[in-house]
Amino acid sequence: MSVEIAPSLLAADFGALSREVSQLNSTKATLLHLDVMDGSFVPNISFGPVVIESVAKETTLDLDIHLMIEDPDRYIADYAKFSPKYISVHEEACRHLDRSIDYIKSFNVMAGVAINPHTPISHLSEILHKIDLVCVMSVNPGFGGQRFIPYTLEKISALRALINHKGLSTKIEVDGGVTAANAAQIKAAGADILVAGSSVFKAPDVPKAIEALHDA
Ligand code: DX5
Ligand code: ZN
Repeated sequence: MSVEIAPSLLAADFGALSREVSQLNSTKATLLHLDVMDGSFVPNISFGPVVIESVAKETTLDLDIHLMIEDPDRYIADYAKFSPKYISVHEEACRHLDRSIDYIKSFNVMAGVAINPHTPISHLSEILHKIDLVCVMSVNPGFGGQRFIPYTLEKISALRALINHKGLSTKIEVDGGVTAANAAQIKAAGADILVAGSSVFKAPDVPKAIEALHDA
């Protein structure tokens, strides 16, 4: 199966948001990755529902909302109203992750769980069957433009093996430092979705950059 590409809006030029978002519509990208940061769970603040509301009007891609916020249940309803394909919460930010997953699904949105580089995949093993998407962070979350952390490749392979062993259809998304140079390796390790911010939006030719990731 071919890998899906999810450009991450964080690396876009926010002064030209409409153009940045609409140029993705006729490319091989299928998901628009939206990084919501609260300045508490991660040491950065990005954007929230006001920006996503505008972006949702410009895109034909499915929305993939990545909540890097503490106690995300407080805001899930605010993001579910955009009918995204996925809402992902961080395992490290949820006291009752099982409940958070059910809560996301109650809005007919697919439930994603993101794990930081240091978080073992065993933290998800008991509830993997309830998770539609695991977002494996391949950088410490909070900023775009960081380098891919090599040891996360092993986590991707181990997660792929666990998902296959359990006969599940849970998708693996990899987020952070993904480039055309490492995309093939990440895909070979078992990723279904590649998130790419800088390597897409900072490229001279955005559709070509997406194609390079897709065809890697
Ligand atoms: C990091 C975010 C990523 C980020 C990826 O905290 O979750 O989605 O936008 O950006 P790049 O591809 O530049 O590493
Ligand atoms: Zn992200």
